[in-house]
Amino acid sequence: MTQTAPLARLFEPARWGKLHSKNRIKYGSCCVSNYNNRDGTHTIREHARTQVIAQTGCGIITNQGAYPDPLGEGKGYFRQVAIYDDKCIPEFEKIAGYIHDAGAIAVQQVLHAGRYGGIDLGYCLQPSIVPQTLPHFRPPREITKEQIRATVQQHAEAARRALKAGFDATEVTSFMGYLLATFNSKFTNRRTDEYGGSLKNRGRFMCELIDAMKQAQGDAPLVIRLNGNELMDRWGGNTEDECFELMQLAAEHGVDMISVTVGWQEAPESSIGRDVPPGYWRRLAARAKKMLPNTPIAFGNRLPDPHMASKCIEQGEFDFWEVCRPMLADPELVHKAAAGRMGEVKRCIGSLNCLSRLFRDLPYTCTRNPQLGHEYDPAYQITPAVMPKKIMVIGAGPAGMECAITAKRRGHDVIVFERGPGIGGALAGYARNDLANSDDLTSVVAYYRNMAEALNIEVRCNTSIDVKAMRSMLHQYDVAVIATGARIDARFLPECTPVRGWWCWAGARSG
Ligand SMILES: Cc1cc2nc3c(=O)[nH]c(=O)nc-3n(C[C@H](O)[C@H](O)[C@H](O)COP(=O)(O)O)c2cc1C
Ligand code: SF4
Repeated sequence: MTQTAPLARLFEPARWGKLHSKNRIKYGSCCVSNYNNRDGTHTIREHARTQVIAQTGCGIITNQGAYPDPLGEGKGYFRQVAIYDDKCIPEFEKIAGYIHDAGAIAVQQVLHAGRYGGIDLGYCLQPSIVPQTLPHFRPPREITKEQIRATVQQHAEAARRALKAGFDATEVTSFMGYLLATFNSKFTNRRTDEYGGSLKNRGRFMCELIDAMKQAQGDAPLVIRLNGNELMDRWGGNTEDECFELMQLAAEHGVDMISVTVGWQEAPESSIGRDVPPGYWRRLAARAKKMLPNTPIAFGNRLPDPHMASKCIEQGEFDFWEVCRPMLADPELVHKAAAGRMGEVKRCIGSLNCLSRLFRDLPYTCTRNPQLGHEYDPAYQITPAVMPKKIMVIGAGPAGMECAITAKRRGHDVIVFERGPGIGGALAGYARNDLANSDDLTSVVAYYRNMAEALNIEVRCNTSIDVKAMRSMLHQYDVAVIATGARIDARFLPECTPVRGWWCWAGARSG
């Protein structure tokens, strides 16, 4: 049975200005991957990853935020890509090509990290000197008016380059407290000139950026990412009402889409972690849509469910479902949803392993998707086995089931032995008692059950395999995989440190 009918709104073609999108799904800029070279040039690893992104089935695809200045003041991540010079254009041409070949609209994001930038320098740029609240970031320097003018120009030049490379549209981000957000926010903008003070003055930099980028790119659309709520009350940030006034201002300056986001890196409150119920922030998108009925609104923060997204679109809460992490966890999400195979989706569980690694200057990985970042690596491709084998897997927890699924897909004959009554191992018990969103972890267990059924993997429950049983059975198998779980040794427990509002585990390093 196909589930396309309930997803009809999500999969309907949509007009976006003069552009046509094959559906209402926007791949959110979720690609600052740390896979590139330190000088901002692309790698084979990044291209392989981007080819997978292009094939996700989204109607609009936003390429990762590129920094626009040659000094790297806008560079927020060790291996972030750069778009500060025409010499960058050929690599971006390839990326626009992948996206177009897949029939999607290509959007290039410009990301000047501002307060979180200057990663290779001994300082960062901000409207005013407001000390960092998190130790990872560089000490602030106040941006001069001359630098403001140069930065606006750099954004315009970046937009021009993106268009020249073949992109259909551009995007500027204030996500999580980058340069644009620091001008908009009362917390970081304490200037006394025309760029500070009143909301109109604080928004001046944003308006200048919009005007300059739009002028540079002609009638190609411009998206702006703006906070619906900064979650920065404790630090004296903007109120929610102020955030919406800023959206209004952006709309008056003719932006072609507003992507509504939530929170800053250093917000004390969680915005997209596992403790936030899916769909929790959709009210912000709905408020934006109500206020700006003629401006396309994109939204998706911590909204991993396409059915919920389709319903929101139907109810007029937003126009485009903007997805990031759910497609890191499962790049096939859109195709599986369209085919009514939601039970086979690896759902993003909000663990934030991906982001926490970026802030440790490591390439991102995903708790659920071991292939993420290894798209270029033949060892990670699921290819038919040269010689099919008979494999016994002991333990039906996540490790055992991942192994069984991969082996089965490669054409091996697999039987899983499980001591307990069902699939899931220790995770199943933990999921039942989860104090956050039990849906997240129970979905992992359900996925393994569904995949066992879909791939016809035999799982023998209530079957203990001890040494004696092994000896009596081994001759029947070519390979035995022991996946009986681990015991936690408290001496080696990772330290849990509060890093930038999202709780990041030091242990996530080993990802
Ligand atoms: C690994 C990773 C990289 C991201 N890179 C960007 C980026 O380059 N630009 C941006 O505006 N947001 C970026 N984001 C934020 C996402 O676009 C998105 O707003 C956020 O993850 C919440 O949406 P989700 O719940 O669908 O993941 C990134 C997020 C993650 C997890
Ligand atoms: S690491 Fe966690 S939060 Fe990030 S995409 Fe994977 S499951 Fe989602």
